[in-house]
This record gives sequence, structure tokens and C-alpha cells, in this order.
Amino acid sequence: MSEPLSGLPARVTICEVGPRDGLQNEANAVSSADKIRYIDLLSGSGLSLIETTSFVSPKAIPQMADAEEVMARIERRPGVRYLTLVPNLRGLERARLANVDSIAVFTAASNSFTQRNIRMSIDESLAVFSEVVREAKRDGIWVRGYISTSFGCPYEGEVPVGAVVRVADALAQMGCDEISVGDTVGVGVPSQVVEIVRELREHVPIERLAMHFHDTRGTALANVLAALETGITIFDSSSGGLGGCPYAPGATGNLATEDLLYLLHGMKIETGVDLERVREATRFITRALARAPVSRAYNAIEAAEARLRELAGSQA
Ligand code: COA
Ligand code: ZN
Repeated sequence: MSEPLSGLPARVTICEVGPRDGLQNEANAVSSADKIRYIDLLSGSGLSLIETTSFVSPKAIPQMADAEEVMARIERRPGVRYLTLVPNLRGLERARLANVDSIAVFTAASNSFTQRNIRMSIDESLAVFSEVVREAKRDGIWVRGYISTSFGCPYEGEVPVGAVVRVADALAQMGCDEISVGDTVGVGVPSQVVEIVRELREHVPIERLAMHFHDTRGTALANVLAALETGITIFDSSSGGLGGCPYAPGATGNLATEDLLYLLHGMKIETGVDLERVREATRFITRALARAPVSRAYNAIEAAEARLRELAGSQA
């Protein structure tokens, strides 16, 4: 048996999804100016991949109706990819006009979810996306593919690993540069992570696979550790743990970036991201949302700092 925690990757890339996956699932709306400031704070922290907005139907997702304005006014830092969701050719056209450097297409491993989310079956979505990806690649746009409900579906329950593999294969073949495997409802456990990655890496090179965990049932960091042990080096998270789940009232959102950073840096795994500057972004956006961050690391560090300030004050 190999030693536990031996052979973990030396470096991990984080895809920050707070401005899109996070804000889209928050109850309170945020102004475009606040979104822009939030994204600029995040890009200043060393994050190299930030999911900023979606070029989707504003009727479907009113929170992302200001995609053009957001993309026009954020600071574009060299070395940072600003990822935007695109559901169809119409979305790609909008994205191109907004001068994006990267897009994400998104489908799922279960049909009921895909149908409700983008009004297409999985196969219909793959047909649409193969055209979108072809056109995007022709313009030199980097493409990520999302597979939602890979660990379970709110409508269908268990999702067979074979269903995830089939969609991943199709996305890889159409030319997606990276594939993010999503636990949309936060039901996954580490043994399932290992089972899914073992199958997937037979079809997609492991360095092109990302894991997207939601912490709804408190298993996200355990899942990260399991994924690290399989060789995964890309993880999605949202600053402050923004977001929720429209299907599970009261549930928490994405794995928090601060919690992920605390775990990785504590294990001496490099990310290039400054935790303190991520906290600054979280502080800003949670004030704008008038809600407290759910990140455990964020809250613990803030509390410790407040206590130190108190002590310093009482000594002065
Ligand atoms: N950008 C802006 N508007 C768009 C659009 C796009 N990319 N694609 C379609 N629309 C508009 C159409 O013009 C039409 O508007 P109208 O009613 O004023 O004529 C309306 O949206 C419906 O268009 P249709 O082609 O019939 O789409 P649909 O109703 O079958 O919906 C999607 C399909 C994919 C456009 C829609 O479900 C969607 O945007 N979903 C996104 C969901 C999402 O972002 N989920 C979170 C990610 S996990
Ligand atoms: Zn998500």
C-alpha cells in the first residue's frame, strides 16, 4: 500500500466561479459596478481563471443580463482568463463582440437537468455545442466544457458513471480544452470521486479535468483531497462560498475559495493565489449582498484578526 498523501501534485489551478455560479444563485441582486469591482479584486489576487458572466437568455437568468457591460468594464489583466458561459451560437456571437478570450459550454450527465436548465436533451446540447466549439476554436478562443449533475441529479437521483464518461468523451472530441466535472447539488463523497476520475482519465488526459464541488452536505474538501490523490490539479470554487442551490433551500453554495486555499497552502501545494486578497474580494461582495460569508477559513481568520486587534487595543 502506498503512503497516504504521498504523490500529491505540487501545484493546483483554481477556477474562481463566484461572479457567475456564486452571484447567480444569491437571493439579492448586485449592481454591475459592484460585480466589476468584485472581479477586479479577484483578478488582483493571482487567480488565473475567473468565471465572470454568462451570455445566456436574460429571461432565463436575469442576474446575468449585464454580461456586455461587465466584460466591457473589467480590468483585463495579462495571464488571466475571463471565462463566460455560452449556451448557443447566439451566445457565442455576443461573446465575440465582447472580446472574450475564453468561453464555457455547459451540459449535464442527466437529461432531466439539461432539459430544465437549457431546454435541450443532452444529445441536442452536444450537437449545438459542437458547432459553438468549432467556431470558437476557429477564432482562437479557449473553451471549457461543464458537466453538471455528474455526482447525482436533483430529479433523477443517482447518475451512472457511464453517463458522465459519455458526455466527457463528446466534449473532449469536439475540442474542449478543459472539462469541469460538477457536483451541482453537493451530494458526492470521496469514493465516488475516485471511481469517476478513474474512469474519466481513460478518456480525457487528467491535466484537462477539473472538479467542481458544492459543499451542500459538507463533503467538498474531502472530495478535493480524494481528487488530489487521483492526480487532479484543477478545482472550481467561489470566494466566500457564495451561491446556493436553487433545488435545496438553505443549502450552502460552492466550495469556498478561502477553504480550498487554506487546505492547499497548508499542505504546501502552490496555487499562485493570495488568500488575503481573496478575502478582500469576499469582504467587498458580501457587504454588497448584505450577507455573511459561509467560508469557514474566512470566518476563522477574520475572527482571529479581530481578537488580535482587540488585544493590541487593550495594551495601548
Ligand atoms: N443570449 C440572449 N438571448 C438569447 C440567447 C442568448 N444566448 N439565446 C436565446 N435567447 C433569447 C431568444 O432570442 C428568445 O428571446 P425572445 O423570447 O425575446 O424571442 C428567448 O431567449 C428564447 O430563445 P430560444 O432559442 O427559444 O431558447 P429557449 O427558450 O429554448 O432557451 C436557452 C434556451 C439555452 C437560451 C436558455 O434556456 C438559457 O439561456 N439557459 C441558460 C441557463 C443557465 O445559464 N444556467 C446556469 C448554468 S448551469
Ligand atoms: Zn456549480
